[in-house]
Amino acid sequence: MADQYERSAEFVDVMIAPHWAALAPPLSQALRDVTGPVVDVGAGGGQGTRVIAEAVPEAEIVAVEPSAALRSVLLARVNESAELRDRVTVLPEGFLEAALPQKLGAVVAMNVLGHFDPAGRQRIWSLLAERLIPGGRAVLNLQPPTEPMTVPESRFADVRLGRRRYEGWGRAEPAGPDRITWHMTYRTYHDDQLVDELEVAYAWWVLDERRLRAELGGHGLAPSRTGPAELGLYLIERAGT
Ligand SMILES: C[S@@+](CC[C@H](N)C(=O)[O-])C[C@H]1O[C@@H](n2cnc3c(N)ncnc32)[C@H](O)[C@@H]1O
Repeated sequence: MADQYERSAEFVDVMIAPHWAALAPPLSQALRDVTGPVVDVGAGGGQGTRVIAEAVPEAEIVAVEPSAALRSVLLARVNESAELRDRVTVLPEGFLEAALPQKLGAVVAMNVLGHFDPAGRQRIWSLLAERLIPGGRAVLNLQPPTEPMTVPESRFADVRLGRRRYEGWGRAEPAGPDRITWHMTYRTYHDDQLVDELEVAYAWWVLDERRLRAELGGHGLAPSRTGPAELGLYLIERAGT
């Protein structure tokens, strides 16, 4: 699997950190009463893994992260916490390739679903239907745009560390009926002087709530909104529970 984050990994974890300040409370709430094992799909540098560990004490956590670059951030984060080191297993495969526990208490897929094409999503829904234990659930977010469209360039991150400041910029354009391409620019300033500029592109599959509901329905699953509306968070459970 190509590592789409190979060149941007140094920026991704620090730039996503502020979003986790907003995501952590509703994710913790959505995981209330869950028992393990919990899978963190595309754990990145482990911001969410840390939230899961706090929300579901003592549960086994499997953090799946195929990007070697981001996985090194994740492993360092796990290694530095006695609490995480004891119960987080990091797997280097993609979610659909990883050897996961046969029974799952929860699956968390934050900021990652757009990496899966429609066939891949069907395999995710099958896996949930087969492996979630009674009371088990998935928590995921749908990020805008939910249909292919042009997104004008805007700054999504501005982080100062020491004498350096890191800016993240993003724009998107349609790349097919269900796809967009995100173009990201990461700029580094030293004492406010531009010293580095990195451009990367990511392929992203878009999905809206109507289609999510229809796809899940085919597997006996149903989504419900959770948390503040602007976060686009969904709880997925067996239909009728
Ligand atoms: C935008 S990052 C989000 C990271 C993390 N979930 C967070 O919110 O901080 C998307 C992550 O999905 C991972 N990813 C991409 N394809 C994947 C796949 N097939 N299976 C599991 N993870 C995948 C990437 O390597 C990356 O770490």
